[in-house]
Amino acid sequence: MASRPSLRALRRVTAPLRNTPTQTRSLCVSAPLLNSSSSPQERQTHFGFETVSESEKTKRVANVFHSVADSYDKMNDLMSFGYHRIWKDQFVSSLAPGLVPTNPASDLRILDVAGGTGDIAFRLLRTAIDTHAHPSVHLTISDINPSMLSVGRSRSESLPISHQAALSFLEADATSLPPQIADNSLDLYTVAFGIRNFTDIPAALREARRVLKPGGVFACLEFSAVDNPVLDALYKRWSFSAIPLIGQVVAGDRDSYQYLVESIERFPSQEKFRDMIVDAGFVVSGDGYENLTGGVAAVHKGIKPL
Ligand SMILES: C[S@@+](CC[C@H](N)C(=O)[O-])C[C@H]1O[C@@H](n2cnc3c(N)ncnc32)[C@H](O)[C@@H]1O
Repeated sequence: MASRPSLRALRRVTAPLRNTPTQTRSLCVSAPLLNSSSSPQERQTHFGFETVSESEKTKRVANVFHSVADSYDKMNDLMSFGYHRIWKDQFVSSLAPGLVPTNPASDLRILDVAGGTGDIAFRLLRTAIDTHAHPSVHLTISDINPSMLSVGRSRSESLPISHQAALSFLEADATSLPPQIADNSLDLYTVAFGIRNFTDIPAALREARRVLKPGGVFACLEFSAVDNPVLDALYKRWSFSAIPLIGQVVAGDRDSYQYLVESIERFPSQEKFRDMIVDAGFVVSGDGYENLTGGVAAVHKGIKPL
């Protein structure tokens, strides 16, 4: 990974990012903090607590997931004490895939974006196929990173044949999906623990709306803002001290796990992200989100209007 100058100084001024006013947030884009590889013309974004050009972020995120692909599943268990499995189960069962779309007589088409090693897709397939509510189910795992997809492909070889037959893999950037994902073609679009890594989240949300059928469901599982101050303090202590260390010891890669922790801190609050989903043209019901484990993670859903 590229070196990260003045990260410690940057962390000092940007640590309380989530609930701080815009003025405080703007500190993190001050000129001296710009990455050396940024060209003045390029739009700036964040990579964890650093400010970098959009192209630099895309490159660095790719490096992170190339680097962590082989240890990704093991690290998820270690970092979350296995909780990621519970959140993923809750996410998928809240979608009741196979029962969600309004027309059970038609085929069910699902896209799992940033699907990585397949954790969400395999759960979705199990539920969708076992409901027998649709004549056929097809699910595409898409991800920008070939290393993550390759781990997903190997894991999928142990699925039942009927699940393997319903599954395909696609290397694609969520912010600009390729033409084979046609407009108005999908019943369900899922993205789990992926969207905070995207360089342009509004662009990805617009793409989600484009490819969903009217009435189709956008569903996102992502780390979020913890609503209890005591839990939040414990969680931050664990995240910022233990996770990079576990990354170093288990995966030999401290920097990637430092980025993953920082990217969680930078992700918008539940309400802000819900508003982004609405701005992209989705309809939400109620608050538009549901907290899991006090907001450590949250599920957001939106429906493309009929
Ligand atoms: C933390 S993993 C989540 C994998 C899986 N969804 C899960 O829940 O275990 C994040 C994934 O997002 C992918 N990703 C990052 N940027 C992306 C983009 N612009 N388009 C598609 N996938 C992207 C990464 O390659 C990585 O596989």
